Amino acid sequence: DLSPIDKAKFVAAKRAVDYVQDGMRIGLGTGSTAAWMVRCLAEKMQAEGLDIVGVPTSTRTADLARELGIPVISLDEAKWLDLTIDGADEFDGELNLIKGGGGALLQEKIVATASDRMVVIADAAKDVTALGAFPLPIEVIPFGWQTTKALVEETLINMDVLGRDTSLRMNDDTPYVTDEGNYIIDLHLRRIGNARQLSLVLNQVPGVVENGLFIDICDVVIIGHGDGRVQVRD
Ligand code: A5P
Repeated sequence: DLSPIDKAKFVAAKRAVDYVQDGMRIGLGTGSTAAWMVRCLAEKMQAEGLDIVGVPTSTRTADLARELGIPVISLDEAKWLDLTIDGADEFDGELNLIKGGGGALLQEKIVATASDRMVVIADAAKDVTALGAFPLPIEVIPFGWQTTKALVEETLINMDVLGRDTSLRMNDDTPYVTDEGNYIIDLHLRRIGNARQLSLVLNQVPGVVENGLFIDICDVVIIGHGDGRVQVRD
């Protein structure tokens, strides 16, 4: 008796753990869909007696994995990963993504890039023809963040985007702080024409640590539907 949205996330997560094999080092994503995957993974591990280790992309995911009995190690201990399974906020026909709605984009990008394969799990509502309706998060160093924000706004003027509003992500009255101690600025772009170029240009602004565009990183998207159907795009 899951709601259609939870059912969609669950069936995608369940299908994704089919990619898991004995002995693998696995990157564990962050968010509500990834949390379903961590539960499915723990179940599969126990049922099949698999020897696997996980590298979490956030303290939230690390806590959940430990609670469910998945051995957790750091990326530096793992060095390289066989597979990462993570959610996304948007994906397009070329398997490019916007991530970071949950604030973990920096570790997510590092972990996914260190993996032989990245499998994304998402409900069908996140399937878009052009990225950008979902606000694009950028992680910035707190030092001089207002100057960084102004520089980013200036940079956007020359880019192929529809909107240019930016906002500092808040947690009630104080700035939201990432696991790495940074701030997040959300860019309300509405439609991104050239995501590859935008990603490169944003990361050149001093103070920007990383942005939520994942270009050429994802290999497979597993799309879950509320009626239990699953589509695989690769
Ligand atoms: C976390 O930082 C994000 O990149 C998540 O992957 C994204 O927000 C998806 O979360 P849900 O699965 O909760 O929609």
